[in-house]
Amino acid sequence: MAMPSLLLAWYDAGHRRLPWRESTRLYPVWLSEIMLQQTRVEAVIPYFHRFLDRFPDIDTLAAAVESDVLAAWSGLGYYSRARLLHRAVRQVASTGPPASLTELRALPGVGEYTAAAIGSIVLGLPVAAVDGNVLRVVSRLTNSDADISLPATRKRFQATAQEWLDPLRPGDFNQAMMELGATLCTPRNPECGRCPITPLCGAHAAGTQHELPVKISRVQVRQVALDVLILLRQSKVYLLPRAAAEKRLAGFWELPQKDAVAATETEAVGNFTHQIVNDRYRVTVWKGRPPAGRLSGGRWFSTAELGQIPVTTLTRKALNT
Ligand code: ADE
Repeated sequence: MAMPSLLLAWYDAGHRRLPWRESTRLYPVWLSEIMLQQTRVEAVIPYFHRFLDRFPDIDTLAAAVESDVLAAWSGLGYYSRARLLHRAVRQVASTGPPASLTELRALPGVGEYTAAAIGSIVLGLPVAAVDGNVLRVVSRLTNSDADISLPATRKRFQATAQEWLDPLRPGDFNQAMMELGATLCTPRNPECGRCPITPLCGAHAAGTQHELPVKISRVQVRQVALDVLILLRQSKVYLLPRAAAEKRLAGFWELPQKDAVAATETEAVGNFTHQIVNDRYRVTVWKGRPPAGRLSGGRWFSTAELGQIPVTTLTRKALNT
């Protein structure tokens, strides 16, 4: 059997039941693809359910205020995704749903990959959706050591995936490729013994699966030390608003840094790391007593209120230490 039939037969025989696979309606599929852009499936699932409960359809989301949308996204990170989705949904609520790849691509927050994923799953358009998982599968199947961080390689791998795509079942084919990359053809320890297309795999034949794909990173990750402070008063925690001038997290609340407040009796209570794009934060969490007198610039929030405001992921992690 050829590659697409083997892959689809494997997918049909049993794939993960993911909540966005329950229907091929535009809104839930679109929402899932935006959430999945930079976030793992397991992390997305509870947010996907909660977001849909809160904003069950396009019109409800279009009518919502941005701070409520950000609050529902709070903890998932990469908040521009939520802002752009909100903007795009407002556009669709007034102009009608996208009916082609070009119309999908024109929506804020929808790039080439996301347009292909939504287009194939919702509209049945015969176009390959190629993300990091799929690049890995293509590089192994073709036993190619081309650098997948290069646009030329991506373009070539996109064309290869497009040749394999089953035009009668493009959505299933794309999801089967993602499924293979996520469950068997994983970055480390690929499970070739269980893979449906091992007989066709160049890397398996050559024994190079552990060396592929080749990705030469050109960006340096910066290490940043950060001390954040949890001040408690009558079961409320003190948070500062993120500067409105800073677009990425405007509207969000976060813990103050330790040396910004003259707290007393401070003690370190934990630490963790948190990466935002190319900055790797080594965070130390402190607790302390608030200074006498008024604190300026921030607000005290109860635990119940924290669930209803946009709070940065780093602060959420710190509050959970
Ligand atoms: N990653 C991106 N889109 C996905 C989908 N539809 N199913 C599983 N993983 C994905």
